[in-house]
Amino acid sequence: MFDSGVGGLTVLHECLVSLPEEDFLYLGDTARFPYGDRSPDELRAFARELAEILLERGAKLLVIACNSATAAALPALREELHGRIPVIGVVTPEARLAARATRNGRVGLIATPATVDSGAYGRALADAAPGAELHAVASAELAPLIQAGGDVDHRVLDCVEGACRPLRAAGVDTVILGCTHYPLIRPVLQRELGRGITIVSSGEAIAEDVHGTLERLGLANPATRRGAYGFLASGDVEDFRRLGTRFLQLPITSVEHFEVGVRAAA
Ligand code: DGL
Repeated sequence: MFDSGVGGLTVLHECLVSLPEEDFLYLGDTARFPYGDRSPDELRAFARELAEILLERGAKLLVIACNSATAAALPALREELHGRIPVIGVVTPEARLAARATRNGRVGLIATPATVDSGAYGRALADAAPGAELHAVASAELAPLIQAGGDVDHRVLDCVEGACRPLRAAGVDTVILGCTHYPLIRPVLQRELGRGITIVSSGEAIAEDVHGTLERLGLANPATRRGAYGFLASGDVEDFRRLGTRFLQLPITSVEHFEVGVRAAA
């Protein structure tokens, strides 16, 4: 499983709860964070590189736990890795949950500029709920503020308020958190949106997809087994360990460093 930083830990958390018998290796590309303002070509190159690292480590299934990378790279990666490893991404599962949740057909989205510009959520929602309207708000600042790991201060509140205002004005009844970092400040977002608005995020839906895919392909571990989890980071490993432990709410004892750009340069 990979993300640009600690946001994907919200997906890992759900997988660890739902699939305790599986082993997980989480890779945070913190040296190249943020992904949210990068081009689709760059994101595809990063995704290919990280997928190869995880394959070398023996992964049997790959989860792109990052909306920006999923939006840019999922179809290409699925095609390129066909027959080698199944690939699961965010976006579609969230659109499916939003389609199920909305009553008035007006769905909001808060995501990085890369994800909003890709149009991936518009397409996924049109498939899941033809006729539903998507109201998208791009935020370049929110994920970096969360990744910085500081207190929830006035900068976070201002940013959340700025993102939620147009969604409330549009009368949405459901909001997709289109970045895996955002569930880490879910209470702030829910307070700003109000109780009547349903928030949808990817963790649970992804865990269901992972379970279903492993079962279908005969790759699932026996339910009686106790799995392990480990971490790789391309940036400072101690920073990752400290921040990650707080966000995952489970112990992270060690984080291994890996170099990025080596394959791209080779
Ligand atoms: N967590 C990531 C996402 O879901 C990206 C945040 C970033 O790197 O900008 O889009």
